[in-house]
Amino acid sequence: MAMQRPVLAANWKMHHGPSSARAFMRTFLDLVDPLPGRQLIFFPSAISVSTIIEMTHDREDILVGVQNIHWGEKGAFTGEISAEMARDAGARVVLVGHSERRHVFGETDEESGRKVAAAVRAGLLPLLCVGELLEERERGETETVVLRQLRAGIREVDDHAVAGLLLAYEPVWAIGTGRTATPADASAIHRVIREELRARLGERADTVPVCYGGSVNRGNVSELLAADEVDGVLVGGASLDAQGWSSIVCP
Ligand code: PGA
Repeated sequence: MAMQRPVLAANWKMHHGPSSARAFMRTFLDLVDPLPGRQLIFFPSAISVSTIIEMTHDREDILVGVQNIHWGEKGAFTGEISAEMARDAGARVVLVGHSERRHVFGETDEESGRKVAAAVRAGLLPLLCVGELLEERERGETETVVLRQLRAGIREVDDHAVAGLLLAYEPVWAIGTGRTATPADASAIHRVIREELRARLGERADTVPVCYGGSVNRGNVSELLAADEVDGVLVGGASLDAQGWSSIVCP
């Protein structure tokens, strides 16, 4: 069990351009005083990252990240941003291997590994997401898929970097569907992830936060956070409304 404060991360996906991101954050900051016992992370769209960074620079409980990077440093990659550019803009974290990147945009395990390595080189903290599709779960392949994605995701970085990562288990069948894994399901897979990390890192593995994601909402967040081995949550739909998100992050 990681000993740090719980992580509550908001993945806004392709929602909230700069104007609505600003309006969200005004309401949110009015409602939520600094929460020293929690680590909040916002993943706005890249175009709204600077707005959110500016508005939260005095909040030590808030980190801001990007939802994706390219693994290269620079070059002819129209539409992409590099880890260095994200860091230069003030981002501190990056989502890697989110299921929409994997299954909508065809990101491979190997590419996720390259992105984790690029993030670490640039001083960005990767939040590596892993999780199985419904048909993989039904075939009994959950552990195989999760371990394959995890191993490929951390293959290119050294133990020190792995010990500093954030991870999220997000079963794809639970994302945006209203079907949440039970706390027991989440704990079981988080334990598999922890064992894999222990095999590589020994006791240092115990401080790597492993978050759960997939239809987390106000009604289920407390029991998920209380579950064994669940060190935080990564939230999509329920993070889009400032009042709703404030009611989720406030203990
Ligand atoms: P959801 O998304 O909370 O809307 O299920 C989670 C995610 O995709 O990170």
